[in-house]
Formats: sequence, structure tokens, C-alpha cells
Amino acid sequence: MTSVTKLYDEDEIARRVEELAGEIAGAVSGDFAIVALLKGGFVFVADLIRVLGRHGLAPTVEFMRVSSYGAAKESSGKVRLIGAVPEEVAGRAVLVVDDIVDTGRSLAYARDRLLEAGASKVWTCTLLDKPSRREVEFTADFVGFVIEDVFVVGYGIDFAEQYRHLPYIGIIE
Ligand code: IMP
Ligand code: MG
Repeated sequence: MTSVTKLYDEDEIARRVEELAGEIAGAVSGDFAIVALLKGGFVFVADLIRVLGRHGLAPTVEFMRVSSYGAAKESSGKVRLIGAVPEEVAGRAVLVVDDIVDTGRSLAYARDRLLEAGASKVWTCTLLDKPSRREVEFTADFVGFVIEDVFVVGYGIDFAEQYRHLPYIGIIE
């Protein structure tokens, strides 16, 4: 039987997203584009842009789909781009938003592809960070929560496409 144990509830997530938006607003100004990574980043970015709006920031929003997992709990070690890098980033500052940094490959890959596509500057933001799992050198500019080596679901994050709908983040066992 799989069970999900709550790690961060809705209020804790909302408070941290609020603080993160403040950190971002302190560091980023003027015109920029958010590029959210699909699928895992979709719930986080939806909340984040609305709080950024209250801080006076009005980024445009693009999506980029990268995949490294398939249906497993371990990264395949190879990042795949599904579809294209958004052309709108050429000449613009970009904030890439993802759900989790694990090995570091996905966000490092997205950052490099966006720079190749002509982004003038790329910041990275992740809701969750598992530094103990890193396999490539990567440090996100904005981090919501640092967590242990546990497998989490909810708030957009899946295990084999399940659990994305949960309003909280939980550890699945
Ligand atoms: P990385 O490329 O290894 O850093 O992996 C990043 C991606 O793996 C994240 O964007 C997630 O989609 C997925 N991932 C990593 N850890 C977890 C987890 O605990 N639960 C669900 N997905 C995860
Ligand atoms: Mg992901």
C-alpha cells in the first residue's frame, strides 16, 4: 500500500511562496519572462505569478517541457526536451521555474537551452531542493524549501502521473 505523509500543508506553502516572491521582487526588475517547466512546475508557477503581481511584477509566462523520469522514482539521467524552447526569450531576462531540483540536470539543461536561444540573463527558481542528490553542479537562485532525500508528491508534483492534484506536499512511501 502506498501512503502519503504530509510534509508542507497549504498554508506553509502559501507563506513560503509569498516570501519567495518578495526575494524575487528584490532581485529582479523591469521586463522579464517566466519560463515554467512542465509538467511539475505548473501549480507552483500559477501561485507564484499572482503573488509577484502583488509585488508589482508582471512577467510574461512561457512553458517548456523537459522530461527525465518516465514512470520511475529515479531520474533516467538523460534530460529530453519535448517540443521547443520558447522563441519569446530572445534578448530578454528569464526566470525559469520548476518544482524540484534533484540531480540538477533538468534546470541546468533548461538554463543552457534558454541562453542558447538568446536569453540575456537566466535566473532559476525551484520550490523544492534536494542538495544531497546532486549529480551535476547546480545552485538555484531562489529556493522554497530544502528537503532530505525523500520522494514527494502533490502541488503539481507526481509519481507516475498521480497525486498532482493534492493541495499539499507529501512524502510517498
Ligand atoms: P533533476 O533533473 O534530477 O534535477 O530532476 C528534476 C525533476 O525530477 C523535477 O523537476 C521533478 O519533475 C522530478 N523529481 C525529482 N524529485 C522528485 C520527487 O521527489 N517527486 C517527484 N518528482 C521528482
Ligand atoms: Mg519536473
